[in-house]
Amino acid sequence: MPQPGNAAQRVTKGDGEPGSLPASRTDRSISTGSVGPMCGIVGYVGPQDALAVVLEGLRRLEYRGYDSAGVAVRVADAADGALIWAKKAGKLANLEKVLAEQPLPAATLGLGHTRWATHGAPTDRNAHPHLSADGRVAVVHNGIIENFAALRAECEAAGVEFASETDTEVVAHLLAATYEQTPRREGRLAEAMRAVSRRLEGAFTLVATHAAEPDTLVGSRRNSPLVVGVGEGEYFLGSDVSAFIAHTRNALELGQDQVVELDRTRGVTVTDFVGTVVQPKAYTVDWDAAAAEKGGYDWFMLKEIAEQPRAVADTLLGRLGPRGELVLDEVRLSDQELRDVDKIFVVACGTAYNAGLIAKYAIEHWTRIPVEVELASEFRYRDPVLDRSTLVVVISQSGETMDTLMALRHAKDQKARVLAICNANGSTIPRESDAVLYTHAGPEVAVASTKGFLTQLVACYLVGLFLAQVRGVTFEDEVYAVVADLRRLPDAVAAVLERMDPVRELARSLAGEDKMLFLGRHVGYPVALEGALKLKELAYIHAEGFAAGELKHGPIAVIDHGTPVVVIVPSPRTRGSVHGKVVSNIQEVRARGARTIVIAEEGDDDVLPYADDLIRVPRTPTLLAPVVTTVPLQVLACEIAATRGLDVDQPRNLAKSVTVE
Ligand code: M6R
Repeated sequence: MPQPGNAAQRVTKGDGEPGSLPASRTDRSISTGSVGPMCGIVGYVGPQDALAVVLEGLRRLEYRGYDSAGVAVRVADAADGALIWAKKAGKLANLEKVLAEQPLPAATLGLGHTRWATHGAPTDRNAHPHLSADGRVAVVHNGIIENFAALRAECEAAGVEFASETDTEVVAHLLAATYEQTPRREGRLAEAMRAVSRRLEGAFTLVATHAAEPDTLVGSRRNSPLVVGVGEGEYFLGSDVSAFIAHTRNALELGQDQVVELDRTRGVTVTDFVGTVVQPKAYTVDWDAAAAEKGGYDWFMLKEIAEQPRAVADTLLGRLGPRGELVLDEVRLSDQELRDVDKIFVVACGTAYNAGLIAKYAIEHWTRIPVEVELASEFRYRDPVLDRSTLVVVISQSGETMDTLMALRHAKDQKARVLAICNANGSTIPRESDAVLYTHAGPEVAVASTKGFLTQLVACYLVGLFLAQVRGVTFEDEVYAVVADLRRLPDAVAAVLERMDPVRELARSLAGEDKMLFLGRHVGYPVALEGALKLKELAYIHAEGFAAGELKHGPIAVIDHGTPVVVIVPSPRTRGSVHGKVVSNIQEVRARGARTIVIAEEGDDDVLPYADDLIRVPRTPTLLAPVVTTVPLQVLACEIAATRGLDVDQPRNLAKSVTVE
């Protein structure tokens, strides 16, 4: 039986009787709670070394959670149908160490899991995979099975003893029992998975194998991501395509409430939970496999910061059609529907929300349509006023953020039109939206979003310009003028990146601080919020972003001798003397002892007398300036975290993709 600290285990055929729930086990551990809601899942069946493929996939998915990791493989030539598993609390490296000491035998089928815990301790015993009592079924799970307590009670009444505190384990027991009750025929494991899936409530991606089916892997999904990779005589499952892009770029989307069977002889079969065969949508992954590797950088985040000029350029590429119109990737909205829009909500979380705040300034300016920006987690609970003429723009790098997905569904229930701005092709949010504009940032692995943010800004600008054009409120040549400014952004971002050595030096001098403030005005205000968010999540320093004008209404009281205050200064060409007001704000904080770190455009000498540290950025049109002013803040946070000896790519308590509400 799997025990904490006893990671690699062999399980042989058990004593479960056909037609009955499996017999009991001895290591009873009863408690409530559920685990694993935004974890990474990998499955493989094919001629390669399954363990190597699964571990490689887990390495790429570790950004989704790193509380524990585990694998299970079906030994290729074992007559008794042995499943072997290993699992370990902590990062994947812990599991790899165990596997190096106790190698597993060769296998052609395997599954793996990397976990982000919500309830239940991140221990060895709660790590996935979970095994049925007879050891014949191994299951990995992402999500929460809301009715697990009732199902667990049912299993326990039938004599099953549970080995973990997880909700997932109930699936292993139910699947083993249901499999025994399912007639022996092709697709038996998938049939059992459908029957079990119909009984589950909540959100789940499940991947499972049965010892009696050496060539078959099954998966099931509801409200949680799972994609299929199709290679030459080999098949993959992953929480996202980065799990298998090193092997194949051919992918299949799985829809809501679907079960997939991957069989080395029969290929891929997808059905709904009842068993009706459905045709999955095939697509080609355009991400480069090398893009998911660190490429010589110490951290993925550094690589992703450096990739920003290319990511911005790629997001602009091919977006303008011959008439100057924006080319959306998938549009299920007519021009008339866009003309009818009388109100826009931008809904997102975290960094994507900050991008939405900037979008408001640009979209309102160009279209004159009122824009409200909402945190996705608040949106549906406050009963927003929506109807057919409301456009809801949802922004999500991963396309799987549960708060954003739920806001999207709420908007659709209210008959609003939904446009997604998303980076992950085939993910749930774009699939459920009426129109999609993909940001072409490539895979973003570091938990802190960088190129995701910059490309979201570019996509928001494109949406604003497109709406302005369709509605006839902006002339085509005006749109082109802004597009020409957009085209200069990759070079501007590259120019900022070339001058980051002083910022790195500055960061090292700030590594001992315990609080920092960020001030901005107009579009600089959301940039201040983004700078503070980056510093909090990476360096664990208490940081706040403020609208500079709000300072005198309270926040200025926290400024003390030496408090570092980062000020994002708008261009002197900004309308309404905002520039002069921000320069005054710098003087105010400096007069109270603050150490002022000023981000200002080239040629703005008004700031010189008041800047203790000055970071120059290229001159950029006001509304587009966040694309350049954010970059030094990313570098600052990254370097402070690295100087403090922290894990830049995987900060504590966080996960890349937050697939729980
Ligand atoms: O994948 P999404 O864009 O929907 O993610 C939203 C947030 O969870 C995300 O931006 C988060 O705030 C980042 N860790 C910030 O760097």
